[in-house]
Amino acid sequence: MMHNPHTPQHIAFIMDGNGRWAQARNLPRIKGHEAGAETIRKITTFCAENPMIETATFYAFSTENWKRPKTEIRFLMQLLLRYLKKERHTLRKHNIRFKAIGALDAFTAEIREQIDALEEETKHNTALTQIMALNYGGRLEITEAANRLIAQGKRQLTSEMLSEALQTPYSELDIMVRTGGEMRLSNFLLWQSSYAELFFTETMWPDFNEAELSKILKAYEGRERRFGAIHA
Ligand code: IPE
Ligand code: IPE
Ligand code: MG
Repeated sequence: MMHNPHTPQHIAFIMDGNGRWAQARNLPRIKGHEAGAETIRKITTFCAENPMIETATFYAFSTENWKRPKTEIRFLMQLLLRYLKKERHTLRKHNIRFKAIGALDAFTAEIREQIDALEEETKHNTALTQIMALNYGGRLEITEAANRLIAQGKRQLTSEMLSEALQTPYSELDIMVRTGGEMRLSNFLLWQSSYAELFFTETMWPDFNEAELSKILKAYEGRERRFGAIHA
């Protein structure tokens, strides 16, 4: 098997399947979201302990998820606030830097204050950058980046300029994992995923664990990333 020399610096997760996980257990969907929050904590800690991984990005809420019933959205917002408050401990303990991307102005002042405080408190941490994608949409991120450049007076955009103007600090993504069995990107990191290695698993996000991620990392090593070139 060809050895892949590109170490996985940036890995992203489409955390899908919380609702189905709960429904399969005769639980309300929100119990699946609660269980899913625990998975984020486990996987983040695992990534922080892996020296190859510099950034782990988690898709927690899309720009399209507002289409869900109000009760589910209300619960997700409460859960987000609880998660942010509780996460402080994990981030400090494991030397993790926190960052949020997405259209954050849609959230309450309380949530935005928590996000700002976490970003500020953890800005010097070095083991991992954990990025939470909240009210995130790939198309929105690209459109906003283009508009920022235009507002700066740029007339002709280059792909380098756009890469730098995106909210996501690393424009290149190495691994994209989607749990829950669907094989689509659902508007996640559209720009960054151009040469990402994609992994899809039937496992529902609450059941995803370190062992399965280890297998993915191992499989990644065996993939040949050609970036359009020809390798002997
Ligand atoms: C992903 O799980 C979490 C969010 C989108 C907030 P889902 O809630 O989409 O779970 P399924 O896909 O309905 O099982
Ligand atoms: C993608 O899951 C969004 C997140 C995981 C936050 P969805 O459940 O919203 O995606 P679709 O609707 O199945 O494409
Ligand atoms: Mg889903």
